[in-house]
Amino acid sequence: MAKITIDKYLCVKCGQCIMACPARIFQRKTPNDYPVCADYADETCIGCTHCLSVCPVGAITAGGRTTADCVSFADSSVPRFEQIANLARSRRSIRSYSDRAVETGTVEQMLDVVRYAPTAHNGLPVKWAALNVRKKVLELAALTAEWAKTQLPKSALLVAEWERGGDPFFRGAPCVVAAYTDETATWPAMDAAIAVETLDLCATAKRLGSCWAGYFIHAAQAKESKKAINDFLGLKDNETVQGGLMLGHIGTVAYQRIPYRPEVSVRWV
Ligand SMILES: Cc1cc2nc3c(=O)[nH]c(=O)nc-3n(C[C@H](O)[C@H](O)[C@H](O)COP(=O)(O)O)c2cc1C
Repeated sequence: MAKITIDKYLCVKCGQCIMACPARIFQRKTPNDYPVCADYADETCIGCTHCLSVCPVGAITAGGRTTADCVSFADSSVPRFEQIANLARSRRSIRSYSDRAVETGTVEQMLDVVRYAPTAHNGLPVKWAALNVRKKVLELAALTAEWAKTQLPKSALLVAEWERGGDPFFRGAPCVVAAYTDETATWPAMDAAIAVETLDLCATAKRLGSCWAGYFIHAAQAKESKKAINDFLGLKDNETVQGGLMLGHIGTVAYQRIPYRPEVSVRWV
C-alpha cells in the first residue's frame, strides 16, 4: 500500500497502532517514544487500515486515507453470543422458494456487509455476479445441466429431474449470487467461501431463504463448462467462480426444529 504518516503533534504514544498492525510496521524502542514507521512499510503494508481504526486521535494516514474513512461502531450494537448462536443454529439450506423476486436493494445491502468479511492478506479479491430473474436462473441451470451430463452416472438422477422440467440445481430460487475472483488472488477459494457464508448468514438474518449452489460451483469450475458459464455471467477468461448461493423468499417449507448434529469433535492438545 502507499505511504503511512504519523502526526507527532497528535500522537499520544498509546501504542495501539503497534499492537494492531499485522505487518509490524509501527515500531519504537521504549514506551516513551513516538512510534515510527519501519523502512519496509510501503512494501509490507496490506492496506487493512487497522492503524486508522485503532488510533484514538486520528494521528495516522495510510495510503491517503484517514480515520474519517473508517466507520465508527458501538460495542453495544454487536450481537451477544446467544444471538449469534441462534443465528448459526437457525441458518438452514432452503430448497423451497416462493416466486416473489428478492429486492435488488436487499441483495446489495447484504453484499455491502460482506465487504467486511476477512480475506487473506486483506486481498479483498471477491467480486459478485448476481441474477435476480428466474428465467436467467433457469438458463444458468441449463448450463449446469450440461456439465452434470458429463458426470453420468453419478448425476443421472439430477439430469433426469432437469429433463422432466425440475430444477435440481437451484431448487426454484429466483436469485443466484456467484462469488468470483481473478488469478491475482492469493487464497481465492478460502476468501470466497468466507464471503459466501457471511452472505448466507445475512440472508438468514433478513428472513430470506438461501442455499449453497454446489452443483453450479462444480460446473463453473469444470473444464468442460467453465467458458460457457463465464461467458453467461460476463466473466473474463482469467476469472473463476469460487462460490454460489441461491437466494429467495422462503416457499412452503417450514422447519419445526433444528436438524441433528453429532457432538463436536475437539482434541485439546
Ligand atoms: C459447499 C457447499 C455446497 C452445497 N451445495 C448444495 C447444492 O448444490 N444443493 C443443495 O441442495 N444443497 C447444497 N448444500 C447444502 C448442504 O447440503 C447443507 O449445508 C447440509 O445438508 C446441512 O444442512 P443445513 O445447511 O441446513 O444446516 C451445499 C453446502 C455447502 C457448504
